[in-house]
Amino acid sequence: MKIREMQDEIIRLKKEKDICVIAHSYQAREIIEIADYTGDSFQLSVMAGEATQKTVIMCGVRFMAETVKILSPDKTVYLANPAAGCPMAEQFDRELILGIKQASPNYTIVAYVNTTAELKTVCDVCVTSSSAVKIVNSLPGKDILFIPDCNLGDYVAKQVPDKNIKLLRGGCHVHEAVIAADVESARAAYPGALLLVHPECTPDVVAQADFVGSTSAIMEYAQNSDHRDFIIGTEMSIVENLQYKCPNKRFYPLSKELICPDMKLTTLADVLNCVKGDGGEEITLDDETIAAARVSINRMIELG
Ligand code: 13P
Ligand code: SF4
Repeated sequence: MKIREMQDEIIRLKKEKDICVIAHSYQAREIIEIADYTGDSFQLSVMAGEATQKTVIMCGVRFMAETVKILSPDKTVYLANPAAGCPMAEQFDRELILGIKQASPNYTIVAYVNTTAELKTVCDVCVTSSSAVKIVNSLPGKDILFIPDCNLGDYVAKQVPDKNIKLLRGGCHVHEAVIAADVESARAAYPGALLLVHPECTPDVVAQADFVGSTSAIMEYAQNSDHRDFIIGTEMSIVENLQYKCPNKRFYPLSKELICPDMKLTTLADVLNCVKGDGGEEITLDDETIAAARVSINRMIELG
């Protein structure tokens, strides 16, 4: 089946079965085109709550599908490709963080939304890359434990210097693989281009950026800028999607290593199988987990 035929069939079945497809902006162009909602992690969380359909298919990674289920427990939620996880989301387990929380009750536990539903149950508030600075700034307590991404945590700590922010050694293996030498090479190869990076990159890389932001913030910045050339320091799909949206501008990857294998797992065929009822995985979480995890996600939406 050709891509166009698969897309037409997905659109037909979505309507017939009242299904909503949500896709993270790291997904492939052909998936973005048939999605009802696309955006960064924060936007997806908000959109999930707003969708009127009873069935939601998430094209992204597992924690994103879990977030939809937590916010809309009455909906049937599928992860289009069951193997798509986020390694960072599983770096710390609940018992470790619960132990720290009990030993240091004055600390507010701030969790990047890239965490398992189970871990969210012991956190005080979730953040995303686009909302972290604003949310941490608005917290009443001074002492904060920021998990799991120490690069995003370092970026937040520099923007909110009056808070005492403790970090643990976690992070995204895709963004962490970019090093300062990549910035040097890219600046030399594309002189005059603006460097836009995601805060999951290391502090060395972030320090050299012209703009730091979430995937959606990077896309918005590039689209609204008068500049023509941009070096993109986040997943490769953002380069492709921006080039499609802005054919008169030029976009270059900061590193050819910026490919998230998990985000790349979902294919249009997976989405088609899922809307047909033959594929994907239905996300199930027990009521207790949903209720406890929802507190930190709702707080994120209110404060963000
Ligand atoms: P944002 O969608 O918040 O920019 O995060 C990027 C990411 O790595 C998602 O897994
Ligand atoms: Fe997880 Fe990094 Fe992939 Fe995002 S890019 S899903 S944080 S591994």
